[in-house]
Amino acid sequence: MRENPLVLHVLGARPNFPKAAPVVRALDSLGIRQGIVHTGQHYDALMSDVFFADLGLPEPVANLGVGSGTHAKQTAALLVGLEEVVEEHAPDLVMVYGDVNSTLAAILVCAKLGVPTAHVEAGLRSFDRSMPEEVNRIVTDSLSDLLFATSPDALSYLAAEGVDPRRVHLVGNPMIDSLYTALPKLDPAPVVGRLGLPARYAVATLHRPANVDSPEAARELVDAVLAVAEQIPLVIPIHPRGRTRLAEAGLVSSESVLVVDPLGYVDFLSLVRGASLVVTDSGGVQEESTILGVPCLTVRPNTERPITVTHGTNRLVTPASLPAAAAKALADGAAIPAEELPVLWDGQAGPRIARVVSAWLKGDNLAPAAHASVQP
Ligand code: UD1
Ligand code: UDP
Repeated sequence: MRENPLVLHVLGARPNFPKAAPVVRALDSLGIRQGIVHTGQHYDALMSDVFFADLGLPEPVANLGVGSGTHAKQTAALLVGLEEVVEEHAPDLVMVYGDVNSTLAAILVCAKLGVPTAHVEAGLRSFDRSMPEEVNRIVTDSLSDLLFATSPDALSYLAAEGVDPRRVHLVGNPMIDSLYTALPKLDPAPVVGRLGLPARYAVATLHRPANVDSPEAARELVDAVLAVAEQIPLVIPIHPRGRTRLAEAGLVSSESVLVVDPLGYVDFLSLVRGASLVVTDSGGVQEESTILGVPCLTVRPNTERPITVTHGTNRLVTPASLPAAAAKALADGAAIPAEELPVLWDGQAGPRIARVVSAWLKGDNLAPAAHASVQP
C-alpha cells in the first residue's frame, strides 16, 4: 500500500449519510486521508444538505449531480460519473453504504477498475428480489473486499452465498452510532411546537415502491393510515417519491393528519423520540425506533432487519392489519430491556470499522474473530 493512502466514501441517498458519518469521524481520528464523493442521487436540500449540517459531514470532494431517473438511466449516469471520479482520485479503498443505487454503481465501477472496496451494512437479506435494494445488496456483497455486518444473521447469509468469512467483520450498526451522537440534541418539544402537534401523536414515513408507486397500493395504504389517524393524530414527513401518488390517494392534511416536507435528521429523530407510535416502510427507521423504544409498525411483507423484530420494537403489518396493530401497540407500549437490544448496537461501530480499515490499509486483514465474538 502507498504512503498516506486515500479512502473515498461514495454517498448519494438520505440513509447513506447517518451510516457514513461515524466512520468518517473515526477514520479522521486515526489520521487516515479520506474524501466523500456525493453522487447527487438525492439532491433536495431536505434530503441531502441538512444531513451534512446535522451530522457534521465534511464537504464532498466531488458532487456528480446524477439526479433521478429510471433504474437504468440513474445507474448508467452513476457508472459514468463514478468511473471518472475514481480514476481521477485513485483511492486505495472505496467505502460504500447500504443498498441504494449509488452503492451498486460504485461497487461495479471499482470491481472493473480493480479498486478495493468495503461495504458497510453487508449481509442484510429480505429474500425478496422484487425489491431493488435486495438486488443491490446481493451484487454489492459478492463484489466487496471487506464486508462490515450490523447483525449476526448477516454472517450466515454471507457464508451461504460463498463469501469468504475472513472478509466479513461483525461491527455493529453505525446508523445507531449517529443516533447516540445526536441523542443529547433529540428534544421533541421544539419540533412538536413548530408543527403544532399535541403531546400524544404518531409519526409515519412511507416511500417503498411497492407501497407508493401504484395507485391501487397507495389507496389501500392511505385508507389504513387514515384509520390509524382516527386513533391518534398522525404526522407524515413525506418522502418526495410518494408525494404525488399518496396525495392523489387521499393523504392530505386534515384535523388528524399533518403532511409535511421531509424533516432534517435531528428534527425527525426528535419527533420519533416523542412519538407514541411509528408507522413506516423505511429500513433505517425500523432500527432507530428500536433503540428509542418507540413501537414501530412496518408496512411490508418482509424485512431485511429481522433483528428489530426479535430484539426490538418492530412488527410487520399489512395495510389490512395496520389499524388493529396500531390499537394494540398504543395500548401495550414498547419497553425493550437494554440487555435484549441487538448486540454491538452500542455507538462504537464507527471506531470498530476504522480499526479494521486502518489495519487493512497496512496490509493486515484482522482476523474477524477479533471483532466478531458474538455468534448468531
Ligand atoms: C432510494 C433508494 C431506497 C432508499 C431511499 C431512501 C434505490 C434503488 N432506492 O429510493 O433504497 O430507501 O432512497 O430515501 O437507490 N426525488 C426528489 N428529490 C430528491 C430525491 C428524489 O424529488 O432529492 C424524487 C424523484 O422524483 C425521484 C424519486 O424521488 O424520481 C425517487 O428517487 P430515487 O433516488 O430514484 O429513489 P428513492 O425512492 O428515493
Ligand atoms: N429521516 C429524516 N427525515 C425524515 C425521514 C427520515 O432525517 O423526514 C432519516 C431517518 O431518521 C433515518 C434515514 O432518514 O436516519 C432513513 O432514510 P430513509 O427512510 O429515506 O431510507 P431507508 O432507511 O428506508 O433506506
